[in-house]
Amino acid sequence: MNMIKLPPDSKLLDPSFTFGVATASFQIEGANQEDGRLPSIWDTFCATPGKVFNGDDGSIACDHYHRWQDDIELISQLNVDAYRLSIAWPRVLDKDGALNDKGVQFYRNLLTALKAKGIRTFVTLYHWDLPQYLEDLGGWVNRQTAYRFAEYVDVITKALGDLVDSWATFNEPFCAAILGYEYGIHAPGHKNHRLGRQAAHHILLAHGLAMPIIRRNCPNSQAGIVLNMNRTYAASASPDDRFAALIRDTLDNHFFIAPLLTGAYPKLLGRVLPDYLPVIAEGDLEIIAQPIDFLGLNYYTCNHNRFHPERIFEDVKNSEPAEYTDIGWEIAPHAFTELLVELNQQYTLPPLFITENGAACADSLVDGTVDDDQRVRYINSHLQAVDAAINAGVDIRGYFAWSLMDNFEWAEGYNKRFGLIYVDYRTQERTIKRSGHVFKDFLASRKA
Ligand code: NOJ
Repeated sequence: MNMIKLPPDSKLLDPSFTFGVATASFQIEGANQEDGRLPSIWDTFCATPGKVFNGDDGSIACDHYHRWQDDIELISQLNVDAYRLSIAWPRVLDKDGALNDKGVQFYRNLLTALKAKGIRTFVTLYHWDLPQYLEDLGGWVNRQTAYRFAEYVDVITKALGDLVDSWATFNEPFCAAILGYEYGIHAPGHKNHRLGRQAAHHILLAHGLAMPIIRRNCPNSQAGIVLNMNRTYAASASPDDRFAALIRDTLDNHFFIAPLLTGAYPKLLGRVLPDYLPVIAEGDLEIIAQPIDFLGLNYYTCNHNRFHPERIFEDVKNSEPAEYTDIGWEIAPHAFTELLVELNQQYTLPPLFITENGAACADSLVDGTVDDDQRVRYINSHLQAVDAAINAGVDIRGYFAWSLMDNFEWAEGYNKRFGLIYVDYRTQERTIKRSGHVFKDFLASRKA
């Protein structure tokens, strides 16, 4: 398999469909003590023994803070229409809320250079690097953090708004809140479901507070939010397993999308797990549910759930033969189509962008090339899955591959590689993998 195969009449081949690659600040920038950047919760988490594979941290990462010009050359070589990146809050704002000019200038330079190449800019305001001083005050469990976020959004959208086509308030509130405060496997590492659900509510509130600010400061930009979603299956047809899958789907997916699009948390929660409902102040749900221009969806895999007497659900492997990526995630393009079609039936969706999709593979550089056949097949089958969802009536406007280049994969450190471009962390040399060439050639043929 060495190419992307789509039907000639596919909407993905239309010039109006946006193709891009994505990254996030903490995962690529490094320079975490430079130009007045403040510590973030991920610096603290990385410095805590046993939290991140191999004790890896973000101090250098892909050294993108210094190599951004070369990286933009690479982005441009891939023939993408757009680039999705995130702003590091601790880089651009001081503790007193004043702009850090050097940090802001870094993003202005980056965005200006992208625009000069004709690459549209999709910017995420929060991709998990909360300033540590806010975590010291309770982080996302503290309602005040939502107001601090709104202040940050006000100053940064004024400072960069002329260079940004599309703003996303948050990347994956589920991961920021639940992996960070409920499961404890991401920063800041708390393990309490009440904290997790409260953090999630405050993140959604912060999104709602930020939306009118973005609209006011950047009337010509799009504004929305990015959610991660897995298609959830029951391990068997038994009522218990089906119930387990329903609860999993509710806690992971509907807990986030329902308040955003309908102004209410899933009713099922109140009946089955009232303890998972956050404290909600009057008016919060109206703030959360205001209209968005787009919804970004990050999709990677599906899960299978069996009933568990104490925890209600537990993950099991697919009982059918399946292929997995290097991070152990099942490759399930059919689940991607199903997820999109079902969401479209369950909700009145705004236009969707697939803001992340990709595979971790055990890549190696041999004689100057990286032969990542599995990633090529993954991208091909998932683009076909998007095509099928569009044909079934889902309004999908774009697709971003995760990721531009190998980078810091959170608790997995540098051990898992998601890039279309290989990074040799000893030399910082970048090599376009076969998947990168396939993507690039596909995008070139589309423009021809
Ligand atoms: C989702 C996150 O947004 C991104 O930061 C992460 O690297 C990828 N998924 C892969 O896990």
